[in-house]
Amino acid sequence: MKQIIIKGGKPLSGEINISGAKNSAVALIPAALLSDGEVTISNIPNISDINALNEILEYLGATVVIKDDTIKINSTNISNKEIPENISKKLRASYYFMSALLGKYKHVEMFFPGGCPIGSRPIDQTLKSFRALGATIIEEENRFKIFAKELKGNYIYLDMPSVGATINAMLVATKATGETIIENAAHEPEIVNVANFLNSMGAKIIGAGTDKIKIIGVRNLGSGFAEVIPDRIEAGTYLIAGALIGDNLTINNIIPEHLENVILKLKEMNVPMEIFSTKIKVTKTNNLVAANIRTAGYPGFPTDLQQPITVLLSIANGESLLEETIYENRFQNIPYLKTLGAKVTMISERQIKITGPANYHGGTVIATDLRAGASMILAGLIAENTTYIDKAEHILRGYDGIEEKLKKAGADIKIITE
Ligand code: EPU
Repeated sequence: MKQIIIKGGKPLSGEINISGAKNSAVALIPAALLSDGEVTISNIPNISDINALNEILEYLGATVVIKDDTIKINSTNISNKEIPENISKKLRASYYFMSALLGKYKHVEMFFPGGCPIGSRPIDQTLKSFRALGATIIEEENRFKIFAKELKGNYIYLDMPSVGATINAMLVATKATGETIIENAAHEPEIVNVANFLNSMGAKIIGAGTDKIKIIGVRNLGSGFAEVIPDRIEAGTYLIAGALIGDNLTINNIIPEHLENVILKLKEMNVPMEIFSTKIKVTKTNNLVAANIRTAGYPGFPTDLQQPITVLLSIANGESLLEETIYENRFQNIPYLKTLGAKVTMISERQIKITGPANYHGGTVIATDLRAGASMILAGLIAENTTYIDKAEHILRGYDGIEEKLKKAGADIKIITE
């Protein structure tokens, strides 16, 4: 087990470089299997979710060469084997292998994917899309046997704009015959990153990033290239860190447009920022004002920053309301933040009231999931004494080099293995 130990109160300054986006990279790697040649993906983050995907690639027999942050994948000789449950349940993104293998072989057997325990996270929209494209699905407990005589393009209407279902439908439709329309598709920039990657291999995908995506199926996909976009959630987390305790902290290598609604919310709270084309400079203020936030799919305020921003809201003057609309179980960090000093009341299962300003004082907490853990790090950075975060391996699933990045900026933080 890993534990993060933070002695709070140290100002953050200098520069933090943002890595490639976890939620893009974890889709790009499985998408690589659709190619009949070799693909190259650069700006891959060094996080444990990527290690889990590489384990799956290796298990299937792909040739993988990793050099620095670039991965080359050749899947010419893979075998379409069932991925063992102990590997596939390590992360949510393992279900992108379901669609990549279905697209490539018209047959796949796989277990229900894993992921952070932030809600029930059903995959009905993914399965519905597979069926629309001609697949038959035999479901036994949490195992799926999916096969198709022929994959045929079709009209797919997603009941909600699911990121996973949009990408899964896109991967399969790329290898189906004829035209597919995905309506009510999710808009996240990670989806555009995946569509551009597939197009570089020879796919014909138009409209990714809007709610209607058109895909003309192709028989073969060749070599391709992708650069993983900057991680907007990692960037948002460090922007919040800068708003909490920054002294001219510069967050580098970002696409500010991907953070538009986060930046607007920080401005509304009075956070001093200077915004440039690929970086933002942020400094703490003592005049933070409360704000109300409701999470939403892109371009709305991201659910993945809901737990981190709770810490900022809790030191602002006044009462803030925070509503989580995407997941039913994403307030698991609240009891722990309260242990550290936050003043939060649950209004309903999906809504909390935060009263500020709170004083954080350190203590021992548990990272129940990735972003919950990030919120505890943020609290630890401003706490009076020492904060101990257990189960820190959850945080390492999604934050590349968090210890080094924060240390370099001035924090007193270390990760120990118990
Ligand atoms: N949903 C369904 N049925 C489905 C699919 C989704 O009911 O078939 C529901 C989910 O339960 C959830 C909502 O729709 O309430 C949105 O789910 P979505 O499919 O969009 O999420 P995801 O693809 O499972 C990705 C990210 C999450 C991020 C969400 C929303 C990956 C691997 N995960 O999840 O990232 O919160 O999109 O932006 O890309 C994180 O990084 O901490 C994280 C949880």
